[in-house]
Amino acid sequence: MMKPAAPVVLIIDDESSIRDGCRQALEKSGYTVLDAEEGDEGIKIARNAKPDIALIDLKMPGISGMEIIEIFSRDVPDTVLVMITGYATIVSAVEAIQKGTYDYLPKPFSPDQLRAVVRRAIEHRNLKIEARRLREEKERMEKSFITFVSHEMRSPLVVIRQYIEALKAVAGERLEKDMAEIIERCSARIQSLETLIEHWLDISRIGEGSFAWKKEPLNLIQLIGRSADEMAPLCKEKGIRLTVDLPDQLPEILGDQESLLRVFTNIIGNATKYTPENGNIVLSASVDDYYVTVRIADTGTGIPADKLPLIFEPFYRVRGKEECQRGSGLGLTFCKKIIELHGGAITADSMEGRGSTFLVKFLPHVRAGHEESNTAKPFRPTQGERA
Ligand SMILES: Nc1ncnc2c1ncn2[C@@H]1O[C@H](COP(=O)(O)OP(=O)(O)OP(=O)(O)O)[C@@H](O)[C@H]1O
Ligand SMILES: [Mg+2]
Repeated sequence: MMKPAAPVVLIIDDESSIRDGCRQALEKSGYTVLDAEEGDEGIKIARNAKPDIALIDLKMPGISGMEIIEIFSRDVPDTVLVMITGYATIVSAVEAIQKGTYDYLPKPFSPDQLRAVVRRAIEHRNLKIEARRLREEKERMEKSFITFVSHEMRSPLVVIRQYIEALKAVAGERLEKDMAEIIERCSARIQSLETLIEHWLDISRIGEGSFAWKKEPLNLIQLIGRSADEMAPLCKEKGIRLTVDLPDQLPEILGDQESLLRVFTNIIGNATKYTPENGNIVLSASVDDYYVTVRIADTGTGIPADKLPLIFEPFYRVRGKEECQRGSGLGLTFCKKIIELHGGAITADSMEGRGSTFLVKFLPHVRAGHEESNTAKPFRPTQGERA
């Protein structure tokens, strides 16, 4: 087996006694040592040799130690930096650490102190590189899992749904009632699986920054109206009254119409799932100096106070009497991710047995030169309240 290469340490110090002392101490311990008596030369060597560790004197004639640290952090980011300093003030130490130094060695130091610092820096470098490798591996796996889910799971599901629809269209009238029911149940299950996969894919895409969304001025009154229209048949079927109670005007927001429509229909969909017959769902909205707030309130089962903080977590579902309702527990996670992508916030208030209210807050979109054009107060925090 090949012997692993000796770690390379670069010393940049204008004092030859320090360079020679370090070289001796480190070579004895098996390190390969390079040195430079001033910054520019050190930078050139580092760019070529990419040393594992660089010991840099903070105070040298010519280019300063701080400048060298900045250049190293940018050009050879894997090199772990240790500064050598004769005047280790807190201020200089803090500044050097902020600029990316790992440790410092105050002059005078013994060979043992030097070796201990270098050993620690090497361990730090190995961990840093391993952490980066794992992070990259995780990102690669997530990406290939997204591709796997969309190709291997979603595509066949779409095909199955299309076959079932074709079956209904072809066999339609000829199907016995119980057969038609079985086919209907298959359809519903496939639909929920498709929704789960869509939510999951979108949540992953938002996480990795590849979710495609438009940022256009939107009229919330229209958006809420469309959501209500879409959900009205389901409410009717379930014997739930859906009321839309909106002001005449609301400020525009900036966002993606289709994603926000999915958010509202999801929240209203939940309200229909967890509200018994003869219940009410009310959609309303208001504006204050900061936000436009949309409220979706229901008179349903409510959510226990200790479970409320968990409902936006992926796959979380409150166990209990509503367990008979089908769902994956990804709906609200999707909503939260989308709203946060829009720079807004989503929260819920609830009282068990009384109902739940979901609040979705958006920042109004203030067009240049149109600040006073609608009823909403422009988004302008009053003095003192932001601190
Ligand atoms: N309006 C509501 N009233 C009562 N409980 C609710 C309400 N909305 C959400 N919940 C609770 O929060 C949980 C999470 O909701 P979420 O929408 O994420 O999942 P789901 O509706 O169970 O499944 P799906 O992924 O199909 O939407 C639900 O399982 C339910 O227990
Ligand atoms: Mg849901």
